[in-house]
This record gives sequence, structure tokens and C-alpha cells, in this order.
Amino acid sequence: MKSLEDIKLRAQKDISAAKDAQQLFNVEKKYLGRKGELTLVLKQVKDLSAEEKRTMGKQANELQKELEQLLSVQRRVLAEGSGAAADLSLPALKQEKGSVHPLMAMQQRIEDIFLQMGYEILYGPEIEKAKYNFDLLNIPEKHPSRDVWDTFYVSAPAPSGSGGQGAAKKSGPETPLLRTHISPMQIRVMEERKPPIRFISPGRVFRHEATDATHEANYFYNEGLVIEKGISFGDMLGTLDVFFKALFGDDVETRAQPSFFPFVEPGAEVLMKGSKGWMEMLGCGMVHPKVLKNMGVDPKEYSGFAFGMGIDRLMMYYNDVRDIRSSYQGDLRFLKQF
Ligand code: DAH
Repeated sequence: MKSLEDIKLRAQKDISAAKDAQQLFNVEKKYLGRKGELTLVLKQVKDLSAEEKRTMGKQANELQKELEQLLSVQRRVLAEGSGAAADLSLPALKQEKGSVHPLMAMQQRIEDIFLQMGYEILYGPEIEKAKYNFDLLNIPEKHPSRDVWDTFYVSAPAPSGSGGQGAAKKSGPETPLLRTHISPMQIRVMEERKPPIRFISPGRVFRHEATDATHEANYFYNEGLVIEKGISFGDMLGTLDVFFKALFGDDVETRAQPSFFPFVEPGAEVLMKGSKGWMEMLGCGMVHPKVLKNMGVDPKEYSGFAFGMGIDRLMMYYNDVRDIRSSYQGDLRFLKQF
């Protein structure tokens, strides 16, 4: 009869040397199979004396248990492939899939519609210079409408005198600030390009707001600009009507009412009537002759229209979201609905 100690040492070596399930199975067979070395020992125990039976029997049984345990550990190690033991009886890990944020989904819908209408998509910087956000858009330093678009000045000369926001606003046209709209892209793009042009520019904007269900200090916005020969107010209204019908369905209606924005003349707001009644959707107008000149475009030769819309508002209308802040809180109960 082979010594148990000898079997144990060789079995341990063989088990840890097994490189795959097949080799491990062969090792198991060699020691614990029907004609395995340990099995044979166990079979012979019955022929031993009562005294030997007790000690040998006990030791052989213990060795059998030990080898079975080693085999099962090695089986897991091989299955895992990494050296760490895996509990194969555990349920599989759930694959968490991400989803497109509803705001980005809305931005993509907007981009698709304007692409189909022949527009380019051009992205601008979130940190903008004061001259693009204000001066060149016909919002001079002392103009009261700067207050509407008050913002954070990223780096302003030390406030002299009274201090506070008023002093920061005295900073010059090159001062960087967080853009409050994307109308600055009208000038930025036209510095590089010549008409005819049609583009939209979606992205993030920053506002001086006390937040509530309909106001956020940062949100998403889409600007559009068209400059061509003979462009009219009617072209603008038609374009925007087509846009809203493409987005919300053919049965929505649109209308415009007069409004003021320093960079357009005349300026308007477009309202849309969908399932929830009339709602103001965007600001727009014919590009102001002064702004055309700032772009290097001759107002006698060209005309154009511009518009700016809040992507959040469109998304909220589209998905029946009641609180603008939901988009920015990272609450999975909100995000998992999309
Ligand atoms: N920039 C305006 C805002 O932030 C929206 C807007 C109004 C954009 C009229 C335009 C425009 O291009 O023509 O409220």
C-alpha cells in the first residue's frame, strides 16, 4: 500500500501544475477516480486490523477531503484565468448601460433638423470675450441691457472705487467672461467667413439667475444665423415654423410677437402652440445693420436673420419635464426615465 504522505505530496504538486480543466480532470482521476491511488488505499482499509483501520481510515478520509478541496480551488483559479478565486454559484453581474442625457438627445434632434435644411454646425468657446458677448452685438458698455446678461468675469482688472459687479463691468472689451448666449458666434464666425452663410451653434451658456423650476444659472442653448442676399423676415418665420413642425409634429402652430434685442431690428419672440397651449420658444430677428457692419458685411448688399433658443425649454416641453434643475442633479431616478 502506498504511503499517504507520498500520495499527498504528489497530488498537491499535480493539482497546482494543472494548466486547464482537462489536465485537472486527469489529476482528479489519477488520485480519486475509480482506480485512483487514494481510492485504492481506501478500498484496502477494510482488510487492515481494527487498530490500523481506525488510524489509516481516518487519515485517508481526511486526505480525500483535502484533495477535493484543492481540486475545487484550482478549478476556480483556472476558470477565473486571473489567479483570484471566483464563486461560480453567484448570479452574473448586471451590465449597467448608460443612456444619452435628454438634453444631449434634444441637441442632436435640433442639429439633425438644421443639417437637413443646409445649415453648418459650428461650436464656440464657453469662455468668451466681452466684445463678442456684448460690444460687437450692439450692447455698449453703458447700455442697460447688459444687466439682463450680467455674468461672471473670469479675470477683470481690480475694481476701483465702488467695487462689486458694477466695477467689474467697467472692464474692457478683451475681458474674458462666461458667455451668456451664443449670439457672440455671429461675429466670431463672420470674422473668418463671407456670406452667404447658414449655421447653428449649440452649447452651454451661463446666466446670473436665482435658480427655480424654470431658471438655471447654466443651461444649454442654440444660436442660428443666416446671411444671404434678399433674406426677409418671412424667410425667418417660415424657417422657424418648419423647425418646430419637424421637432414637435405637423400639427403645431407658430406665431411671432414683437420683442427687443439690441442685435436685431426688428426683433421678435416666436411662440408655439402644441398640446400645452401657446408658449414662448425663442428670440429672433433681422440682424441689425450695425451688427452686419461689425461682421464686415455690407447691409446694403446682404440681409440676414438670427435666432436663439433654450435647449432646456425645448427638452422640457418635449419630455414633459417640470423642473429645469432635474437635468443637472444627476439623480438616477430622473436619468433612468430616458
Ligand atoms: N441671445 C438672446 C438671449 O440670450 C436670444 C436671441 C434673441 C438670439 C434674438 C438671437 C436673436 O440671435 O436674434 O436671450
